[in-house]
Amino acid sequence: MTDLTTRYLGLTLEHPIVASASPLTGSLDSLLALQDAGAAAVVLPSLFEEQIEHDAMAFERSIGGDAAFNVEAPGGFFPELPGYDTGVEEHLDLLSRAKGELGVPVIASLNGTTDGGWTAYATAFEERGADALELNIYLVAAEPDTTGPEIEERYLRLVERVRTAVDIPLAVKIGPQFSSPANMARRLAEAGADGLVVFNRFYQPDIDLETLEVTPDLDLSSPSDMRLTLRWIAIMADRVDADLAATTGVHGPADVVKLILAGATVTMMTSALLRHGPGHLRAVRDGVGRWFTEREYVSLDQARGSVSQASVPDPIAFERANYMAALTTYTPGS
Ligand SMILES: Cc1cc2nc3c(=O)[nH]c(=O)nc-3n(C[C@H](O)[C@H](O)[C@H](O)COP(=O)(O)O)c2cc1C
Repeated sequence: MTDLTTRYLGLTLEHPIVASASPLTGSLDSLLALQDAGAAAVVLPSLFEEQIEHDAMAFERSIGGDAAFNVEAPGGFFPELPGYDTGVEEHLDLLSRAKGELGVPVIASLNGTTDGGWTAYATAFEERGADALELNIYLVAAEPDTTGPEIEERYLRLVERVRTAVDIPLAVKIGPQFSSPANMARRLAEAGADGLVVFNRFYQPDIDLETLEVTPDLDLSSPSDMRLTLRWIAIMADRVDADLAATTGVHGPADVVKLILAGATVTMMTSALLRHGPGHLRAVRDGVGRWFTEREYVSLDQARGSVSQASVPDPIAFERANYMAALTTYTPGS
């Protein structure tokens, strides 16, 4: 049987399938269900910059201060939240309870975009025993006056700041929208990221044609969404000094196998688990084990990166040539 163990962020995992941040990792019961189903590690839902800043304001108000107008946030002001319950304490409590009850590594997650005081919460996670921290930088660069390099600097400063705050391993979850994703990945690693989670799925708003309102639309991913991640994992493998966690579109055993061959250290699942329930994870893990065992791989390390861009005889297949071939060989109805 192939040895499926893998090392991610300095942690030894039994196999390369991690439950990524979602409502499924947001309660102790479902965390235990994920562990029972064989999750190698879990990432808790993110604590959002907005939650932390609101919490700070609510505290200030309760002692008669005016932090509402002083917080380090893009606009410097957030509207009040009904009841002031921003969930920060519950979030920290979930981490403590998860650490108390789970045997698998528990990765905490911080989600934000600005270089503000909220990043101090990285320390709170460390103190509560998080095995690692995932920093999800969910930044939509919507300001036309802001240049690409300015946005990149913002990412790097944020990573440096969190890196200085904690000693636990740090992963950074990013989206694909950089002019040069592999270069950015390298610089994030140099700024202190031990791992990169590629790629975050940015949820796109929609317009309701009845009400003409802009509506948040949260679609779950489909397996074809995995291709973007597959290409960039293959390109980054062995060229970026960080572990690579593949997220988006990982639905079945074949997706996991392909991503490992491309060079991923681990793969992460949310949509498939939300669709089929935590038990799906076990089926995927078993399928991955079968695939590698039938082909007599001794270990995952032996397979990892064997189909990365640097390893294949035709590296251009991961670049533009593949695009031209795909377009010119397409047959209608195929
Ligand atoms: C309902 C829902 C909630 C999510 N919450 C978080 C979150 O709190 N933090 C985070 O980093 N990602 C969050 N994600 C993103 C997932 O962790 C994952 O990266 C994304 O869904 C792509 O993976 P998938 O194709 O397996 O779904 C969420 C996704 C969904 C569908």
